[in-house]
Amino acid sequence: MVTEVFEAVKIRAARNQDLEAIVNLDQKILGEARSDYWEKKLEFYEDHSPMTPLVAELENQVVGFAMGDTSGWEFGIPAGTGWIDILGVDPDHQRKGVGAALMQEMITNLKKVGVATIYVLVNWKDWDMLKFLDNMGFSRGDMINLELKV
Ligand SMILES: CC(C)(COP(=O)(O)OP(=O)(O)OC[C@H]1O[C@@H](n2cnc3c(N)ncnc32)[C@H](O)[C@@H]1OP(=O)(O)O)[C@@H](O)C(=O)NCCC(=O)NCCS
Repeated sequence: MVTEVFEAVKIRAARNQDLEAIVNLDQKILGEARSDYWEKKLEFYEDHSPMTPLVAELENQVVGFAMGDTSGWEFGIPAGTGWIDILGVDPDHQRKGVGAALMQEMITNLKKVGVATIYVLVNWKDWDMLKFLDNMGFSRGDMINLELKV
C-alpha cells in the first residue's frame, strides 16, 4: 500500500501560488492559521537559502511540505551540515509514504549542495515524528539542545 502511494506522490518545488494550500495544510496539522509566517518563510528561502522548499502532490492536491537549509558555521556547526526545518503531511494522507518521499527528495537536494550530515530538532514527546525519523535512518547526534526561559 505504502509503495503504491509513494509512486503516485509527486514531489516538486513550492511556488508562490502554493502559499494558500500550505497555510491551509499547516492549519489542518497544527490548528492555527499562520499566513504571515509562511509568506515570510517562503521569501526567506528564496532570498537566503540554496534550498528550495518542496511540496508533495497527490492527484494535483498539495498534501505535504518540507523545508530545509544549510549551515555556515553557526555555533560551531560546520559547513556541510544541513537542516530539515519543517516537514508536514496532511493528516488524511499520513502513513502512505508521503513524508518519506518528501524527506528523500530533501536529502537528495541537500547532498547536491555539499551537505554530508543532516540535523533535525524534534520534540522528545513527538513519538510520531521520532518513529518516522528513526525509520528514515536518523539517530541521536552529538549536539544537545539548551534552553533558557525568559
Ligand atoms: C511525521 C510525519 C511527517 C510522517 O509523515 P507520513 O507521510 O505519515 O510518513 P510515511 O508514511 O512516509 O511513514 C514512513 C514510515 O515512518 C514510520 N512512521 C511514520 N509515522 C508514524 C507514526 N505515526 N507512528 C509510527 N511510525 C510512523 C513508519 O515506519 C512508516 O512506514 P510504514 O507506514 O510502512 O510503517 C507526519 O505524521 C506529520 O506530518 N506529522 C505532523 C508533523 C508536524 O507537526 N509538522 C509541523 C508542521 S509545521
